[in-house]
Amino acid sequence: MKTNSLFNPSAQFLLPIPFQIKKKKVEYPRVVSLWLSPLGNGELSFKPGQFLMVYVFGVGEVALSIAEKDETEESYVLTIRSVGTVTRALEHCKQGDIVGIRGPFGKGWPLEEAVSKDILLVAGGIGLPPLWSTLPFIFKDRSNYGEVFLLYGARSPHDILYKESWESLSKQKELVLKISVELATSRNWNGSIGNVISLVDSLRFNPQSVVAFVCGPEPMMRFCAYALLKRGVAKESIYFSMERNMRCAIGSCGHCQFGPLFLCKNGPVFSYKTIEPFLNIPEI
Ligand SMILES: Cc1cc2nc3c(=O)[nH]c(=O)nc-3n(C[C@H](O)[C@H](O)[C@H](O)COP(=O)(O)OP(=O)(O)OC[C@H]3O[C@@H](n4cnc5c(N)ncnc54)[C@H](O)[C@@H]3O)c2cc1C
Ligand code: FES
Repeated sequence: MKTNSLFNPSAQFLLPIPFQIKKKKVEYPRVVSLWLSPLGNGELSFKPGQFLMVYVFGVGEVALSIAEKDETEESYVLTIRSVGTVTRALEHCKQGDIVGIRGPFGKGWPLEEAVSKDILLVAGGIGLPPLWSTLPFIFKDRSNYGEVFLLYGARSPHDILYKESWESLSKQKELVLKISVELATSRNWNGSIGNVISLVDSLRFNPQSVVAFVCGPEPMMRFCAYALLKRGVAKESIYFSMERNMRCAIGSCGHCQFGPLFLCKNGPVFSYKTIEPFLNIPEI
């Protein structure tokens, strides 16, 4: 892949660029990963935690996190849970289909804040993809960080994303990896049972030197913050990746407004200290 920018900078954020679906994988029922490759030359430069607007022609556009860049396939991997009109259309896309891409958008995870500190990545369910994208960036500069923990909670052993990658990841000496499932029988699972917060509770770390990146359903993120606060982690060291419906993704339409913040422009990653005042307001 050449290194020139894929997008005309003046139109980059408004005009969808055609990408082809190079590969598709069903992770588990109603959740698929798509490998998207640009039709032209060039590449997407992105920060972990940033998102793309993916346009299914004739159907609509949705925000999706970039899970990883697959160098071998020269593709960007997105993982999609089918919940509505556009995500259902993406679930049923075939290899070779073309979609439109805008972006990348948003601020992403503040990895620079974590330099010289321990990193705690906490993912629930389909919240894993934006955290998954941090791993190559962390391992590229591994000596910059202290201990790295990845805690992942899934509903059941069948609902674990990226199953083929966990074995090699678990052999990484420089990563403490823990997976927990909520529902399991002894026949299909011999790991932890419970929600991901129980993994946080059982983890040994120094609360003064940890930065936590959390993504998952909103209640899970809140309970995770409560568990971390109880352990003495500062509010400004806990980050959430938030989800709201997006339209323009450039801070113009107001669809993603969250109190005084626009998720697309000011987020989607926010420190808990920044968003805490707005989390309990039901209208937003
Ligand atoms: C920054 C950002 C990153 C995201 N990254 C990902 C990602 O990597 N993978 C992914 O699968 N999704 C991701 N999402 C969520 C995704 O954008 C929505 O699921 C999508 O917009 C739904 O659009 P739709 O047209 O399929 O559903 P719609 O037709 O708009 O909605 C249909 C129904 O589904 C409900 N619904 C909508 N969104 C969700 C949701 N997220 N969860 C549960 N129910 C919902 C609606 O309330 C409605 O009842 C992200 C969202 C944001 C803001
Ligand atoms: S999506 Fe339009 S302002 Fe954020």
